[in-house]
Amino acid sequence: MTDGAVADGAVRASSTPFLSAGILTADLTRLGTELDIVRGRADFVHVDVMDGRFCPQLTVGPAVVAAAAATGIPVDVHLMVDEPGRILPEVVRAGVSIVTVHAEASRHPHRVLTELTELSENVHPVVRGYALNPGTPVGVVEPVLELIDLVLVLAVDPGWSGQAPAANTPRRVAAARELVQTAGRPVLVGVDGGVTLRNAAEVASWGADLVVSGSAIFDGRDAAGNLTAMLTALRGQPAATTAARSGGMQ
Ligand code: DX5
Ligand code: ZN
Repeated sequence: MTDGAVADGAVRASSTPFLSAGILTADLTRLGTELDIVRGRADFVHVDVMDGRFCPQLTVGPAVVAAAAATGIPVDVHLMVDEPGRILPEVVRAGVSIVTVHAEASRHPHRVLTELTELSENVHPVVRGYALNPGTPVGVVEPVLELIDLVLVLAVDPGWSGQAPAANTPRRVAAARELVQTAGRPVLVGVDGGVTLRNAAEVASWGADLVVSGSAIFDGRDAAGNLTAMLTALRGQPAATTAARSGGMQ
């Protein structure tokens, strides 16, 4: 994605955030069918790559990322792996749209983001994401602002779907927003983890440009219906807003 595309997104996101649908709880034996549910409706499919070291769970790797990208649905890859530099080339070559690495995952994050930038320029253009765990100061973004297009604020400690968002999330989103405004070009702010049908409208009101939601959509029952409700909530339709207000952050 180009700077122009990011700029378009930032303009559009001023009213409605992008929705990235996480597939961690989707039925992976029917991945194509599950992806078809979100095709053309969610903006991205969010693939959580976990290595069992950076965070406790072990999930999928570049092969499944490539399979998802081959369906033609824009893929948002969240790399919760130690030293992600080693798999960046394979992930970027898969033709994904967003590649996010964690600030806490490498000894030399500046070098990793420089590698990601070079891959984006030379192999395939991607939105360069930088994720921060709930306990990481938002200020770590400042030294690498030139090398990123997205700050992904984790509302939960990485590892599992279905956790409740940390109480510090709204102020961390606000702090990230303030910081990226000094970049002099569009840098998006996203929220990942714990976004449900009950709190989605509230999360949207924090001013995020991109919202990731997984188990609230792929709940094993009605992913299509959940997706409709999630999109409605993010657009701030009255019914969803009322539900979110009565439920608060869950
Ligand atoms: C957290 C992951 C999230 C998570 C989202 O470890 O990065 O993407 O799977 O799942 P929900 O929406 O269920 O919290
Ligand atoms: Zn994620």
